[in-house]
Amino acid sequence: MTHHEVEKYRKPVRVLHWIHSGAFVLLFLTGLVLFIPQLGFLAEDSWTRLIHRIGAAIFVIIPIIYLIINPKSVCRGLKEAFTWSSEDMGWLKAAPRYYFVIGDERDMPPQEAMNTGQKMWWFMVLVFGVIFVITGAVMWFAKTSAPPAVLQWMVFIHDVCFIATGCMFFVHIYTGVFHPLMTEAWNSITGGKVSVEYARKHHGKWYAEVSKGKKEA
Ligand code: HEM
Ligand code: HEM
Repeated sequence: MTHHEVEKYRKPVRVLHWIHSGAFVLLFLTGLVLFIPQLGFLAEDSWTRLIHRIGAAIFVIIPIIYLIINPKSVCRGLKEAFTWSSEDMGWLKAAPRYYFVIGDERDMPPQEAMNTGQKMWWFMVLVFGVIFVITGAVMWFAKTSAPPAVLQWMVFIHDVCFIATGCMFFVHIYTGVFHPLMTEAWNSITGGKVSVEYARKHHGKWYAEVSKGKKEA
């Protein structure tokens, strides 16, 4: 790392991000096959159902591994995702103009390592992740024993989570990979680093702490 760069995501975080993403994509695609009746023929031999269950196991195991190897970082992430201030409100107000119209940094309040949009994604993955696991576990393990009405509710809630996280997932990919202002987001989750200039512009509060040695990636 040069002194023009700063570490944003450490290697274990990056590796686990990609394994977790892989599991999510498997769950999303195999879920889609069950969700859209016209694709039902793909699930005929139940191989998509098997992949869905394998994906679910990976989806659950990865956060547990992360919690075991880096509890401090998980607590920091949780604290950040659930702590909202007036700056987040300012971000929400300024974001539509910033992202879709003008792109002037001065309109945006300085942000932590996660900006408000990223916090919303973290929050969603956490909350909906838990609901996915509970509803999925009932469909998986109590398919024959649970009353039909309960199963129907589980499918319905699972589907609502699928639609909500699915939409936000595309926003995550668009903002992280394709948005012209997020030029270094991809580098940060693949190589770990961003330039000092990018850190200052996009994560001003975090960079101020990092440069004083008070915070790490
Ligand atoms: C497979 C497609 C995916 C791509 C291309 C992708 C890309 C990225 C990128 C570029 C970042 C860095 C953003 C930044 O720091 O500015 C990031 C961060 C992150 N990703 Fe993903 N990601 C994907 C899937 C997922 C999935 C499925 C999840 C959750 C289940 C996820 C959760 C996160 C989280 C929590 C962060 C840190 C906070 C944030 O930046 O939003 N990602 N991802
Ligand atoms: C993480 C834990 C998860 C578990 C344990 C789980 C489990 C299950 C199970 C057992 C089923 C019923 C499959 C069958 O009929 O044999 C199912 C259906 C489904 N899952 Fe998941 N799943 C999980 C996560 C996800 C995620 C992350 C997504 C999408 C992003 C998803 C999307 C779907 C969809 C769309 C269906 C079809 C529901 C319907 O019939 O309308 N699941 N899941």
